[in-house]
Amino acid sequence: MPHDHPKEKHDHATLNFPDGFLWGAATSAHQVEGGNTHNNWWKWESLPGHARSGQAADQYNRYEEDFDLAKSLNHNAHRLSIEWSRIEPEEGKFDQNAIGHYKAVLEALKKRKMAVMLTLWHFTLPKWVTDQGGWENGATVKYFVRFVEKIIPNLGEYVDFWITVNEPGVYIYETYIERAWPNAKKSFWGMIKSYLNIASAHKKVYKLLHKRYPAGKPVGIANNLLSFEPFHKHSLLEQLTVSLNDVFINHLFYLLTRKTHDFLGINYYFHVRFKHHGFVPDLAGSFSQTHEASDLGWEIYPEGIFDVLTDLSDDIPIYITECGIASTNDDRRNRFLIQYLQEVARAIKMGVNVRGFFYWSLIDNFEWHLGFEPRFGLIEIDYETQKRIVRPSALVYAEIIAGNGIPHSLMKFLGHTVTADEVLKGFDQKETAHQP
Ligand code: FCB
Repeated sequence: MPHDHPKEKHDHATLNFPDGFLWGAATSAHQVEGGNTHNNWWKWESLPGHARSGQAADQYNRYEEDFDLAKSLNHNAHRLSIEWSRIEPEEGKFDQNAIGHYKAVLEALKKRKMAVMLTLWHFTLPKWVTDQGGWENGATVKYFVRFVEKIIPNLGEYVDFWITVNEPGVYIYETYIERAWPNAKKSFWGMIKSYLNIASAHKKVYKLLHKRYPAGKPVGIANNLLSFEPFHKHSLLEQLTVSLNDVFINHLFYLLTRKTHDFLGINYYFHVRFKHHGFVPDLAGSFSQTHEASDLGWEIYPEGIFDVLTDLSDDIPIYITECGIASTNDDRRNRFLIQYLQEVARAIKMGVNVRGFFYWSLIDNFEWHLGFEPRFGLIEIDYETQKRIVRPSALVYAEIIAGNGIPHSLMKFLGHTVTADEVLKGFDQKETAHQP
């Protein structure tokens, strides 16, 4: 039998993604729109020392320009959220102008032939809802369902994928544990109640949307999943910590909301190596890094996305609903995009049913309590002039989308050459992660 030389054959090959793959970027209303005066964040931001969203990237007025750019960068899908506090600024009073605005926004995406993934709740709540206890109050579930009932007949026709809620775990963590987000509170039971109420809201809205659209329109959540591993491979205690965190952080919400997900929406940003000294956890050691990091100090760890994808792999489709890097160094963003997408391609090759990727974020935006400094955008915002400046990495992403794969020519951004074949065989990036 003659020897097959796959390496030679594929040396210049493109690392391909499946047909019909969705390519786009994500945003959330409060982070880009500006002027969201009726929500709890606006109130919180007015406190001394807190970052203020102000006019943000003024996308409320500039969405056409932003969607034109996304289209010109080959995006065939877009993830965005609607702001509940604009649509229902007072309890039970729905603002037709705000609904009309979002209708125009979604129509603008459809006109550009982009698939729409719409998030119904992305962290902000109308002030009147938080005045009554926010998610701690069981009535908020009812209010949220009523809000969704109101928007279905107005906006539903433009939506291709529904995301009911964004990252329940992050919301709980930032509000009740880190207490960096409104309405920061030290309350164990408040935390549990909020989590359970968000789960109940998801289930109810899932059922509502399925009743309204029996023939389809997939419904899911966007969940922040972390890649965990023990620092010492043979430490039983560290293995146990990994398992507990995996259950509570990555799987609990799914367990509480079984059978109400048509797809899994994954936001991936973090990797943690749990370290213990005897029984004593070493937090600093657990978060110490051996890889490059973003401007926020978040470790760049491409293998992590492979880990969470293979861990979650199920029969239902997976969309990466957020994955991105805060960096003013665009070479770093190029490397990030290529390396993370290589890992996604590898997971697909292993049989994981990934159907789309939404980079966070289309444009620079208001990164919650961290303000405007972190720069996640494919498109830079000059906040003085609101000018949009397309970053070179946006063009690299556009090239990947155009070919529905990572062409060999882009490997130059890694500073070394990796063949498509090597990636699919499980090329170990650990050895080459330290680029100059
Ligand atoms: C995610 C949030 C998103 C953005 C990114 C950086 O946790 O969903 O709003 O802040 O992180």
